[in-house]
Amino acid sequence: MAQDTAFSGQKHRFDSGWGRKMRNFITTPIYYVNDRPHIGHLYTTILADVFTRYKRLKGEEAFFQSGTDENGLNIVRVAEKNNKNVKDFVDEISREFYLLKEKFNLSLDSFIRTTSEEHKKAVYKLWNLCKKDIYMDVYEGWYCLSCEAYYQDEEIIDGLCPIHKRKLEKFSEKNYFFRLTKYLDEIKKLIEEDKIKIIPKDIKIQILDILREKRIKDLSVSRDAARSKGWGIKVPDDDSQIIYVWFDALTNYLTGLGFGNDEEKFKEFWEEGKIYHFIGKDIAKFHCIYWPAFLLSAGIKTPDYIICNHFILNEGEKISKTLGNMITIEDLLKDYGYEFTRYYLITQGTEFKDWSFSWDNYKKVYEGELKNEIGNLVSRIFGLLKNMPFDRLILNENLLENDLKDVEEVYEDRIENFEFSKAYRSVFGLVKKLNRFIDERKIWESKEEKDYKTLVINLEKIAKFYLPVLPESMQKVLSALDIKDNIFENKRIIFEHLFK
Ligand code: MSP
Repeated sequence: MAQDTAFSGQKHRFDSGWGRKMRNFITTPIYYVNDRPHIGHLYTTILADVFTRYKRLKGEEAFFQSGTDENGLNIVRVAEKNNKNVKDFVDEISREFYLLKEKFNLSLDSFIRTTSEEHKKAVYKLWNLCKKDIYMDVYEGWYCLSCEAYYQDEEIIDGLCPIHKRKLEKFSEKNYFFRLTKYLDEIKKLIEEDKIKIIPKDIKIQILDILREKRIKDLSVSRDAARSKGWGIKVPDDDSQIIYVWFDALTNYLTGLGFGNDEEKFKEFWEEGKIYHFIGKDIAKFHCIYWPAFLLSAGIKTPDYIICNHFILNEGEKISKTLGNMITIEDLLKDYGYEFTRYYLITQGTEFKDWSFSWDNYKKVYEGELKNEIGNLVSRIFGLLKNMPFDRLILNENLLENDLKDVEEVYEDRIENFEFSKAYRSVFGLVKKLNRFIDERKIWESKEEKDYKTLVINLEKIAKFYLPVLPESMQKVLSALDIKDNIFENKRIIFEHLFK
């Protein structure tokens, strides 16, 4: 796999020359280390990676961040259940998430662990900035350890968590509270005016409904330290309390840009750039309500986009550790290579509707699309180019010009709207068209320059469209074509079949 030299642990420096470009800060959720990575986590991460690569190919700057959420009571419980020391346990699982970078060629600039010192500094800084809105009170209520959240009576179904369907626990304790209620009107306005743009619309509507119902109370932002056995970030000047894991986790987005440490990138990317949070719909409330409230309280800009993907289902159920129906990373990588998993998730997933994974379909899409259409197209074209009767082509004629133009428009428009599968359906249409073009015009017999020009022009475009999804193979195609100043020189290369 291609090595990504851009990544150097948690610190990353850009090369020079990016001062005037549009800057984008793109994030995934930070994943709980209560269990190993699975297809659901990977889905959100790949969506964000493809968007990041797309932005960079457009010539914009993009800083891409992921990480692991390692504090919280649930983590302590799971570690104990596995008879592991908590620190060893989180190190082990966090590493598995980190290794996704290598395994799936993720173009990450930063990977945040919430147990790191730099993160703690960022959390303290945010806490202190929010301090005027934090007060002490007593909390009594139902708690879901998987969500790390309290539920109100009316949200509970048969005493179970509405998301995880696990038994809730009754807690009563002294906590610090955050004056969430103070910011609700302002957040509602920001969302209504799309200053915080929530995608898709139905999630935006749900969030606005929650805000309009006016049932939200002030938020408990600390937990009893003894109950979490001291694991977590202590409240400044009060060792008896641990900072609520969601306050802690959400701050990771600031940590990655040096907030509370070295703030140069924070200024450039957070304050002056566009902020995109890719998340799953299950954590929309935390990102669309709590997070903007903390930021408003601290006097920090709120995110520009919150993109909430729907779920991959396994026989109608959400895939999760709690439900025990995982599709693991090893399963995915077994037969077809990492690029196909990227391709499958991006092209088969319906971003804003739940969709079902199946192994039959996985295999079918590999054979039918990646191997027989895309891979085949590439090897056919290189075969034809090797034997073509010209040494060079000036790329000024495209018999499929209108088709290409249509795809270009749809592609850009859909990706900018985060509808990756639609963007790539349109690109795949061009792949099939070009395969048909070869057959219909019998190019292996023809001596017409314009046919060859059409092949090269469209293949180069197709490779560029697919580059964010299939970064390694499409880079091979582009390097082999090696088009300079609109001229293709025939070096009579033998190109290996990409997908066997
Ligand atoms: N730690 C919190 C997030 C904190 S962000 C400041 C958390 N972690 S999680 O590990 O439970 O998973 C988070 C995300 O994984 C979900 O929001 C979603 O993006 C992704 N997915 C997990 N299972 C999924 C599916 N089955 N399908 C699609 N995405 C899912 O919540």
